[in-house]
Amino acid sequence: MPQHLRETFAGKRVLVTGHTGFKGPWLLVILEMLGATTLGYSLEPETKPSMFELIGATRLCRHETGDLRDRQTLNRIVDDFEPEFVLHMGAQSLVRRSYRDPLETFDSNFTGTLNVLDALRRWGGACVGVMVTTDKVYAESGSLRAYVEDDKLGGHDPYSASKAACEIVVDSYRKSFFHPSKHAEHRKVIATARAGNVIGGGDWCEDRLVPDVVRAMSRGERVRVRNPRAVRPWQHVLEPLSGYLTLAAHLSKHPVSTEASFNFGPDESDVLEVERVVQLALQAWGSGSYYTDIDPNAPHEAALLRINSDRAKAKLNWRPRWNATTAIEKTVEWYRHATRDPLAYTRKQILEYFAAS
Ligand SMILES: NC(=O)c1ccc[n+]([C@@H]2O[C@H](COP(=O)([O-])OP(=O)(O)OC[C@H]3O[C@@H](n4cnc5c(N)ncnc54)[C@H](O)[C@@H]3O)[C@@H](O)[C@H]2O)c1
Repeated sequence: MPQHLRETFAGKRVLVTGHTGFKGPWLLVILEMLGATTLGYSLEPETKPSMFELIGATRLCRHETGDLRDRQTLNRIVDDFEPEFVLHMGAQSLVRRSYRDPLETFDSNFTGTLNVLDALRRWGGACVGVMVTTDKVYAESGSLRAYVEDDKLGGHDPYSASKAACEIVVDSYRKSFFHPSKHAEHRKVIATARAGNVIGGGDWCEDRLVPDVVRAMSRGERVRVRNPRAVRPWQHVLEPLSGYLTLAAHLSKHPVSTEASFNFGPDESDVLEVERVVQLALQAWGSGSYYTDIDPNAPHEAALLRINSDRAKAKLNWRPRWNATTAIEKTVEWYRHATRDPLAYTRKQILEYFAAS
C-alpha cells in the first residue's frame, strides 16, 4: 500500500458515509489495509446480494445504521467518534431513480450533505472532509471539451442537480465556517471530489451498465443496451477511491492553501461509448451477446460527459492506474472468481491496483 496513505491514515479515526453501497465496502477494505479505525454510517444495504454483506464488512468497521437526514443521530455519532477524517459518500446515487423519486434524492443528497457539514461545524475537533459529488455536477455545455473544476455548475436530472446543490452548500460552509484563512481556529478543511462512471466487482445497483451485463450473463440472457451511444468517462472503483484518499492526505498536509474541488477521471482514451464497454465486458466474460433497445421516451441523460483531471495530477500527483480495458477485465474477474472468498479477492485486487504504475 502507498506509504503516504499509510502515514496519513494508520491509527486515524475515519467516518465513512455510504459504506453499505458499492464504493463504500471497497473503501472500508482499503482503510483496514491502511490501519485506520473506521466508523460507517448509512442505511442498511439495499441490493441483493450486496458487497457489504458478501465481504462481511461489519468486521472491518464500527457499523452504524442511520439516515443522513437524521440530524440528531449524525451529531451524536460525530461528537462520540470524533473523526479525524470524514469521507462523505452517502447519497441516492441513481439518475433514473432520481426521476422516480426527486424528493428523496434532493433530501438524502442535499440535506444529508448539509447535516454532515453542520455536524462538523458544531463539533470542535480538527477534521479533514472529502465530500463526494460527481462528474455530473457540471451544467451541460454541449461542447466536446472536458469539464474543468471551475466550469459552471448545473444539472438537468434531479440526481445531478442535487449533487450540484451539494457543491454550493459545501462552498458556503467552506467560506462561512471553515475558511482556510481561519484554519487555526476551526481546524477543519473541506473539499469536494468529482469522479466519473465507476465500475468494479460487487456492484448490484439497478440501472447500471456493468451490473446489468453481469445479471444477464449469469442468467444466460442477452444484454439489453439502452443507451449505446452515450459517452462516459469509465474508471475502476479503485481510481476515485485512491483519489479521495490522496485528496484527504493532501488536505491534511496543506489545510490552508488548496483548491476546493477536484476531478478524478480516466485518461481521454478511456472515455468510451456504452456499446464499446458492453463489447469489452462480453469479451472479458468469454461469451454472450447484446441487443440495443433505445427507449424514445427515456428521461434525459447527458449524451457526452468528459472531465479533465489535470488539477488532481498536478496538485495531488494522482493519476489513473488501470485503463478502461483493464478496469473491465478486473471487474469481470471479480464477479467470476471472488465467490469463494470475496474479501480476500477484494484485498488481492487492491494490492494489484496499488502495485500498478
Ligand atoms: N457509482 C458511480 O458511478 C458514481 C459516479 C460518480 C459519483 N458517485 C458518488 O459516489 C458515492 C458512492 O456511490 P456508490 O456507487 O457507492 O452509491 P450506492 O448507491 O451504491 O451507495 C449509496 C450509499 O449511500 C447510502 N445512503 C443513501 N441514502 C442515504 C441516506 N438518506 N442516509 C444514509 N445513507 C444513505 C446507502 O445506504 C449506501 O450506503 C455517491 O455519493 C455517488 O453519488 C458514484
